[in-house]
Amino acid sequence: MRGLLDISELTIEEIDSMMNTAEDIIANPWKYAESCKGKKLATLFFEPSTRTRLSFEAAMHELGGSVIGFSDGDNSSAVKGESVADTARVVGCYADIIAMRHFIEGAPFVADRNCVVPVINAGDGGHNHPTQTLADLLTIRREKGTFSGLTVGFCGDLKYGRTVHSLCTALSRYKDVKFVFIAPKELKIPSYLIYEVIEKNNIEYVECESLEEAMPSLDILYMTRVQGERFEDKAEYERLKDSYILTADKLATAKEDMIILHPLPRVNEISVEVDYDSRACYFKQVLNGKYMRMALILKLLEGAKQGISADAVRPKPMVDDAEGKYKCENPKCITHTEQELQQAFRLVDKEQNILRCKYCEARVKNI
Ligand code: NCD
Repeated sequence: MRGLLDISELTIEEIDSMMNTAEDIIANPWKYAESCKGKKLATLFFEPSTRTRLSFEAAMHELGGSVIGFSDGDNSSAVKGESVADTARVVGCYADIIAMRHFIEGAPFVADRNCVVPVINAGDGGHNHPTQTLADLLTIRREKGTFSGLTVGFCGDLKYGRTVHSLCTALSRYKDVKFVFIAPKELKIPSYLIYEVIEKNNIEYVECESLEEAMPSLDILYMTRVQGERFEDKAEYERLKDSYILTADKLATAKEDMIILHPLPRVNEISVEVDYDSRACYFKQVLNGKYMRMALILKLLEGAKQGISADAVRPKPMVDDAEGKYKCENPKCITHTEQELQQAFRLVDKEQNILRCKYCEARVKNI
C-alpha cells in the first residue's frame, strides 16, 4: 500500500501542496476538525520517541480521528518472535493508517509491502526519517520563504543521523542549494548520499570539521545529537558526544537571518542560552511537524484504496538486480532479522556496478 517510506517518494509538487495544506490547517483548523472522523491511526513504536509519536497522535486527534498502538515494542508480540510483516498485516486489520518507528533499517518498508493500509516510516534505525523532513521543510519555507540559493550547514552526527539523510535528499532537488557538512571524521555523511544524491544533483558541498569556520557562510544551521544508541563502541560515543556545542558566543559570526534547526531531542549540542536568540527555530519545527503530519495523513488516506480485504495482500517477489548473488552486509538491515525475506538489490550505477540493498540502501562491497 502506498505509504511514505523515503522522502524521495514525494515529488517537489506534492511536498509543496502538503505545505499549502499545512498552512491552511494553521489558518483554519476548524475546517479539518472532522476530516478523519471514523478513521484510526496505529502508532507502532519499537524505539523511544516523544515528538514523533505524540505529534502523529495529536495530528490524528486534531483531524477528528482516533489512535491505537504501542510506544514500546517490548509490549508487543515482537517479543514472542512475531515478524514485522505479520505485525503489520495484523494491525492493517484494525487501523486505516500506520506510523512505524523501528530500530531495524528497512522495517517500515517490509511493513508497507505486507499491509493493506499505508505505512509511514517514523524513523528506521540510522537510515531515514521522512516526516521529520516534512517538519524541517515547512519551517524553512516559513522562515526563509524559499529553498533555492540557501547554504545549509549540517553539524554533528551525520553518519547515524537519519534526519540529516532525509533532509539533504529532499533539499538536493532545489536550485542552487549548497551544503556544508560539519562533522568529526568518524561521523561523516554516508558516501552513498554524496555520490548518488548530492553529486548526481550537481549540488555544491564541502566537508569540514570546524563549526566556527563554517558559521559565517550559513543560511541554515542544522544541529544534531550524537546518536549514542547506534554506536557499537560506547567509549567512542563518550569521546565524540560533545564534538559540537553551539553557544551564544559562537553565533557572533553568524548571519543575522540565519536560522538554527534541530530535530530534537537535544542533549548538549545547543546550549540553553541559544533558545533566547531569535534565530533559534527548533521549537517552531516541533509545531510545524504536527501540521505536516496532519497534511500527510490526509494525503495518504485520500490515496488509500477503500474496502481492500486483509487477504488482498500477497506481496509480489521483488526484482533483484543482483539475481540472488548477494546478501546485504549491513548487520542492522531487516533482511537479517525477518524470516524468509527475499534479498533484493537495485543497480544504482551501471558503469561502476554499484548495487544497493532495497531495504536499507547499504552498498554491496567487493563486486
Ligand atoms: C530524531 C530521530 O528520532 O531521529 N528525533 C525526532 O524524531 N525528532 C533525532 C534524534 O533522535 O536525535
